[in-house]
Amino acid sequence: MHEHSFRRRIMHDDYVVWMDGITVMFPGVVALDKVHFDVVSGEVHALLGENGAGKSTIMKVLAGVNTVYDGKIFFTGQEITVHSVHEQRKRGVSIIFQEMNLLKNLTVAENIFLGRQPVDAAGSIDWKKMFRNARALLDSIDSDISEKAPVSSLTIGQMQMIEIAKALSFKSEVIIMDEPTSALTEKEVDSLFKIIAKLKSEKFAVIYISHRLEEIFKIGDRVTVFRDGKYIATEKIKNTSIDDLVKLMVGRDLSEQYPKVSCIPGETALEVRNLKQGMRVKDVSFYVRNGEITGFYGLMGSGRTETMRAVFGADKFDSGEILIRGKPVQIRNCKDATNRGMALLTEDRKNQGLILPFSVKDNIVLANLNNIMHYFGLSATKEDMVCGRFSESMHIKTPSLKQKVKNLSGGNQQKVVIAKWLNRDADIIIFDEPTRGIDVGAKVEIYKVMNRMKEKGKAIIMVSSELPETLGVADRIYVMHEGKITKCFDETKGLTENDIMKYAAGLESGV
Ligand SMILES: Nc1ncnc2c1ncn2[C@@H]1O[C@H](COP(=O)(O)OP(=O)(O)OP(=O)(O)O)[C@@H](O)[C@H]1O
Ligand SMILES: [Mg+2]
Repeated sequence: MHEHSFRRRIMHDDYVVWMDGITVMFPGVVALDKVHFDVVSGEVHALLGENGAGKSTIMKVLAGVNTVYDGKIFFTGQEITVHSVHEQRKRGVSIIFQEMNLLKNLTVAENIFLGRQPVDAAGSIDWKKMFRNARALLDSIDSDISEKAPVSSLTIGQMQMIEIAKALSFKSEVIIMDEPTSALTEKEVDSLFKIIAKLKSEKFAVIYISHRLEEIFKIGDRVTVFRDGKYIATEKIKNTSIDDLVKLMVGRDLSEQYPKVSCIPGETALEVRNLKQGMRVKDVSFYVRNGEITGFYGLMGSGRTETMRAVFGADKFDSGEILIRGKPVQIRNCKDATNRGMALLTEDRKNQGLILPFSVKDNIVLANLNNIMHYFGLSATKEDMVCGRFSESMHIKTPSLKQKVKNLSGGNQQKVVIAKWLNRDADIIIFDEPTRGIDVGAKVEIYKVMNRMKEKGKAIIMVSSELPETLGVADRIYVMHEGKITKCFDETKGLTENDIMKYAAGLESGV
């Protein structure tokens, strides 16, 4: 009786999830400090906050991934204690992780039904049925990915779609999406938003974490903001604005979002002529000058990453010529590229950029060993100094440099990768999607870092899928579509998003 009146007093019956006073501690870190979060059926509830604010942590509590917590959790009106992922899935909560957890050597269908593959009468896996069920799920989200494809052959965007299909397969009441769109193509984002709208109309509750504020205004009903492990506010989307939300997230007005510095461009640092590589790079030519940020804009899959990987020697190319400071060079592998003063900050940070079980310090030092030895001789204190400076300038949120990178929040892991390349003695630096998954405040820090490099006369390439960022940061812009450069803008003054989009969508071409 008492419990009933308690419920009446503080919550409606349509709150499917009600979490209160939730505290989570890790060694040296209070990840969540008595926070509140609630969701009703049939709503899309956005969760916002800077990198390390505690968004993933609270969702891991709700999904049963992290079972060490303090506080009260009610599910459809009943107080519950969360013990495991399995139990939460059965209750109706599933989560799509920010860091994907697929097994690369298995097929798409096996990944979706891992641990619950349909079996036939004899008890062995019923492959036909499994493939059929997987196909139906993929069709329901308009995906043309083959259910039989090995996950290793998929792009990051496609893997994310598999995670979504998998979550849907659990028939959950609450579906948590932790930065689902950070690697999706426009088309995939559109179909995801359609799926979300459908889930909403069928009274599912969707919890949506994203650093892309525009998305939240497109699909969200309410939004909760955390800052530094603390609950700040919950608002109805229609009563708030991007500026309000940014202020709540960072606790101050954000100055300029795209600080631009003007430099006079110098010599051509890198020139690429008629580069061809497989199906993804078809005759690409461009040049990059010192003291300039050259932007590469294109939709996901337009061949930008493949182009950069080929230039950097990470993948072999079929034909073409690369010139550094006017001289033709042979770049057979990444080591050649590094020796020639190039650096590539990859888009797929988890697989290519970081060693997760190693500390923040070791990850930063690994790329900088030469540098540190050169300037200081290899001494531990000097190393600490250098790393400390990087982690400070990038605002990496970590209790110490000894923390294992795998314990950092998603966005902070990305900052480590960037820090790792920052002070490298490179003259030509390729940033592939440098701000993906990074919060608004830290983005500005990264732009400032690029600007400082530009002022030092370095040649910078920035590959980006975000138009405002490309327009706001780059001095020259190449637009790619289906493996080709469809346009080069030597001047960005007066350019609009539309001007660029036409070429990115392949509606026009004019090099
Ligand atoms: N397993 C862990 N061990 C130690 N610290 C952790 C662990 N998991 C998270 N943390 C810390 O808890 C804090 C909150 O992290 P969380 O992953 O929830 O942030 P987030 O809001 O999801 O950030 P992002 O936008 O970068 O993904 C961070 O300081 C993080 O370093
Ligand atoms: Mg996170």
